[in-house]
Amino acid sequence: MKLVDRTKNSAAAVALLSLSTLSAGFLEASPAFARDAQQPVLTASAVAVADKYAADAAEQIFKEGGNAVDAAVAIAFSLAVTYPEAGNIGGGGFMTLYVKGKPYFLDYRERAPLAATRTMYQDDKGNVIPGKSLYGWDAVGVPGTVEGMWEAQRRFGKLKWKQVLAPAIQYARDGFVVDEQLAKRGEEASKEFGGKTNFDQYFSEMKAGTTFRQPDLAAVLTRIANDGAKDFYDGKTADLIAAAMKQGGALITKRDLQEYKAVWRQPVEASWNGYEIITAPPPSSGGVGLVQLLKMKAMLAPQFKDVPLNSPQYIHLIAEIEKRVFADRAQYLGDPDFYKVPVAQLTDDAYLAKRVAEVDPDKPSDTKSVQPGLGTSMPEKAETTHFSVVDKWGNAVSNTYTINGYFGSGEVVPGAGIVLNDEMDDFSSKPGVPNMFGVVGSDANAIAPKKRPLSSMTPTILTKDGKVALVIGTPGGSRIFTSIFQVINNIYDFKMPLKDAVAAMRFHHQLLPPNTIFWEPYQPINGDLAKQVEAKGYVLKGQDFSGDIQAIRIDGDTPEAVADPRGRGVTRVIQ
Ligand code: GLY
Repeated sequence: MKLVDRTKNSAAAVALLSLSTLSAGFLEASPAFARDAQQPVLTASAVAVADKYAADAAEQIFKEGGNAVDAAVAIAFSLAVTYPEAGNIGGGGFMTLYVKGKPYFLDYRERAPLAATRTMYQDDKGNVIPGKSLYGWDAVGVPGTVEGMWEAQRRFGKLKWKQVLAPAIQYARDGFVVDEQLAKRGEEASKEFGGKTNFDQYFSEMKAGTTFRQPDLAAVLTRIANDGAKDFYDGKTADLIAAAMKQGGALITKRDLQEYKAVWRQPVEASWNGYEIITAPPPSSGGVGLVQLLKMKAMLAPQFKDVPLNSPQYIHLIAEIEKRVFADRAQYLGDPDFYKVPVAQLTDDAYLAKRVAEVDPDKPSDTKSVQPGLGTSMPEKAETTHFSVVDKWGNAVSNTYTINGYFGSGEVVPGAGIVLNDEMDDFSSKPGVPNMFGVVGSDANAIAPKKRPLSSMTPTILTKDGKVALVIGTPGGSRIFTSIFQVINNIYDFKMPLKDAVAAMRFHHQLLPPNTIFWEPYQPINGDLAKQVEAKGYVLKGQDFSGDIQAIRIDGDTPEAVADPRGRGVTRVIQ
């Protein structure tokens, strides 16, 4: 197994190292990074995470002397146990880091199997087979989370690997008390999978208020603690995954696992409003989209002057910007290892000034005249999860990871208890076909062996004068970066307290369906506001998902953490 570094800091990185040669020393002793001590610059460390068990895990890690990366890795493994609907070791994700004053980005997104083909989700007539990329063994991409966590902790952690796995092992072995929201999501998933996957065999006992134990998963986590990522990609766990795949008639083999690579990439970076934005590069569309949104809104300052937050005119102007961002997303975004994504051009001020000049201040621009590609007409799964971490030394981790839909593909590896993703659905199952506007989309996100599907995950860090100012992210599929954008606006343009900025109403437009504004159940657009938005020429549509922002703001030397009231997240500030 190889690790690849493609960042500008690559000289400092450990590139092309074999995990097997690293394992022994790393498992026994604290990493070299720990010897290079940092001075505290904040009064406390802080986390904002999707559940209380992960927050407890992070608190334990900080009390043992760990840093933000140690805490992040402990959170990721804990959520794989206690937040099984989206936390995972059977999926993948992105980690944006700010360590010792430098930005980093780790891509541990799933990859298509070696035997994957462009048409694997189409029938003989070339029609997409409904559900094939969403449910069951065929929907699974090669998981990256374990290698991602291993690589991040090996490079930047202070504690021993076993220490950061300990809370997750305890939750899996001894159990945790099931929250009502989790139990409800489990029941809904069971209905959705409809007995066609093995989901019920593992999760039918997961009832609200009861203690839920996962002994198979505890055994996997214990092996990973003892043997490192090697167990998952080349050991007993790899054998269990490969056997399950074979049994399910699907494509992933042990070789897929052995060849899996996490990649250090250059994050998307941009200056905005006195802040440096550090965010997700391709294969996420999110970082490019977020920077485009923030810059275009700043360029439209005269049009936004005196426009109240979330008023009909505000919603219209934001939708106009989003329309153009999603047009670019459809055309240009994909896995940069397979397709040259023009990140610099897409975030260039002169280019964005041209796009902004096309915004109609009064009514929705004609969709057909804006969109160059297929748009995002396919519904995208929204049920990822995010956590934000800062430590008292001023390091930060913004991490979003996913198995795509809640409980992923609905398949659980027998003997391992690992919930497998349905990330293959994030590829275009049928690119190159004219859409409802007769426009042919790009191949950027077509399926190919070892390719990573396009994502919207946008783990983001803002710095000011070299210090972390905001750590933020959320689940939400294509709503991820439009949600983060709105919260950042609320904080910095509307000067709202962090708690209010996160709680405020959010809405979403994504080019297709035409002139449609999606509202959220937490704060619906209704009454007079709805009438006024419709009068501007928009169609309003409810969605069943509200997002789950986890944010930490640092103003001075004390972090403030907020978990979205829409979810069951919690925060901790640890002295
Ligand atoms: N599966 C959701 C995303 O990657 O954006």
